[in-house]
Amino acid sequence: MDFGMKNRLSHIINPKTGKTVMLAVDHGYFQGPTTGLKDLRKTVTPLIPHTDCLFITRGMVRNCIDPGSDVAICLRVSGGPSILGELSNEDITTSMEEAIRLNASGVGMSIFVGAKNEDRTITNLGRLVNEAERYGMPVLAVTAVGKEMGREARYLALACRMAAEIGAHFVKTYYCEDFYKVVEGCPIPIVMAGGKKIPERDALQMTENAIKEGASGVDMGRNIFQSDNPVGMIKAIRAIVHKGASVDEAFEIYSKK
Ligand code: R5P
Repeated sequence: MDFGMKNRLSHIINPKTGKTVMLAVDHGYFQGPTTGLKDLRKTVTPLIPHTDCLFITRGMVRNCIDPGSDVAICLRVSGGPSILGELSNEDITTSMEEAIRLNASGVGMSIFVGAKNEDRTITNLGRLVNEAERYGMPVLAVTAVGKEMGREARYLALACRMAAEIGAHFVKTYYCEDFYKVVEGCPIPIVMAGGKKIPERDALQMTENAIKEGASGVDMGRNIFQSDNPVGMIKAIRAIVHKGASVDEAFEIYSKK
């Protein structure tokens, strides 16, 4: 790995802890103005001081993020279908030149394993990695699995391993039972997506489990920005990820208004 690649990656994954708290706010790229992100600037601004890296589209970076902020940016560069269409029918939407212009520390796209268009999303990942390697730009593969497959270790392990084999530099996946099996089969860092909003204590427990089972952090959205205390929640997640706080300690942090 050359200097540029390592340096960008170290803006995302803190070299001191080997972990990251990424805040995912890219949902609008197929869901539109989803709950909690209708006014993205208002939601995200107070969370930025507690965030290592935003996962976000270029349009929202340009319109809603203060260029003076030192938060790292991982750009969502895939898209196409809306929530009303076939979600796996994605392509690359944002150029590497644009990612560099926006001073991104990484780029990310979805792969859909066991779904329609599986093969095209995987070859798109290969193409993105080919280009990213030329510029020292880390690539995050976001794993989605076919609806009928369920979020089980064997399928998520398949998707994460495929992402690593194709050349992604880190991968995002969901938590599942026996998550450690997903980690075992994947030589690149794994960050955990949060999924649908669940009670705060459960989300903190899921985070602790994922970290204990080998995750390199989180790329979490709804369980932070849809919380009744988003700043408390991201601070609590941070305490678990970077400081090894217990769920009880983290819940106390979340509870302080
Ligand atoms: C999903 O495709 C999006 O890329 C989100 O970034 C991802 O699902 C993480 O957000 P959440 O924690 O809300 O699931």
